[in-house]
Amino acid sequence: MDAVGWGIVGYGWVARDYMEPGIRAAGHRLVAVCDPNPECRAAAERAGARGHADLAGLIAEPGVEAVYVATPNHLHRGAVEALAAAGKAVLCEKPMAATLADAEAIARAVESQEIFYGTAFDQRHHPAHRTIRAQVAAGRLGTVTTVRIVYACWLGRDWSEAGQPNWRIDAAQAGGGALMDLAPHGLDLVDFLLDEPIADLAALTQSRAQDYSVDDGALLIGRTAGGALASLHVAYNCPDALPRRRLEVVGTKGMLIAENTMGQTSGGSLSFIDGASGRVEPLAFDADSSPFTEQVRAFGSALRRPEERGAYSAARDLHTMRLVARAYGQG
Ligand SMILES: NC(=O)c1ccc[n+]([C@@H]2O[C@H](COP(=O)([O-])OP(=O)(O)OC[C@H]3O[C@@H](n4cnc5c(N)ncnc54)[C@H](O)[C@@H]3O)[C@@H](O)[C@H]2O)c1
Repeated sequence: MDAVGWGIVGYGWVARDYMEPGIRAAGHRLVAVCDPNPECRAAAERAGARGHADLAGLIAEPGVEAVYVATPNHLHRGAVEALAAAGKAVLCEKPMAATLADAEAIARAVESQEIFYGTAFDQRHHPAHRTIRAQVAAGRLGTVTTVRIVYACWLGRDWSEAGQPNWRIDAAQAGGGALMDLAPHGLDLVDFLLDEPIADLAALTQSRAQDYSVDDGALLIGRTAGGALASLHVAYNCPDALPRRRLEVVGTKGMLIAENTMGQTSGGSLSFIDGASGRVEPLAFDADSSPFTEQVRAFGSALRRPEERGAYSAARDLHTMRLVARAYGQG
């Protein structure tokens, strides 16, 4: 496949540390970025891309075919609407937007402009998660009854990566706290692993350990239309040295346990426990394959081959945002 020309809107932590290396590793090209911060533009120029202070400059770049949006959440909507109007393909970071109304506007823009759109759920592309999906589809677990997810971290008031301000603790920019930031991954992953979205949801949030106003933890319970249950524990109040990234899929014939696979990086572990004997079997997967690199490859491939675009759906991602709103008692 010929190299896809990428643009990036918002060249901060995730763009610099994960997306730019992913674009390079996939053999694609980062053509240009848009970021109002001169230091971020300088970082992009060091990576071989042209820097623009405004979105119009990036949109005018003829070599930019696909654009990754990685601004703070409240700016996703404006960026995606402008990119859709310009006919660019868009891969927008999660959560789709800071509010359900903004996510609905994004879905409308994508539909009316008929652009190729995906939300950047990189964890769909972790090889351990692809293995789980394949094992579930092959019936290895029997009837899946439950998915249990822990996805937590420590996010203090002064947390900062790549020298950026901590917009995550400001409800106006982030749209919420740990639930808004971390739960979309797990909600989407349940759909990906079982091929069945969560239909019903209840949740409780807490503001327990951190000195800011957005929630620093939440427990969510969901159920698919077919009756599988899901539990998610997400948190900003869990010390990073504790076990805090765990995914279990339980069925009538056995269970799969993935540890340290949720997140931006490659690696982690995956094992199967047989429901009859209790025997534990480690399962191999490509431990060097980065979910971000795989995400770039998959999006680029679908850009070139429209028949692969069924793996992406703004309507599905909007449903995930509706679940998040419901978890906050808004839907
Ligand atoms: N998929 C994942 O695992 C993952 C991981 C981290 C972050 N994210 C998501 O990525 C997004 C960015 O998060 P981050 O941690 O990289 O944030 P960040 O603060 O490190 O970076 C945001 C960047 O956006 C820039 N920006 C601000 N206003 C802008 C504008 N009007 N136009 C263009 N750029 C603008 C900032 O200057 C900054 O460089 C968020 O939506 C976040 O939820 C996803």
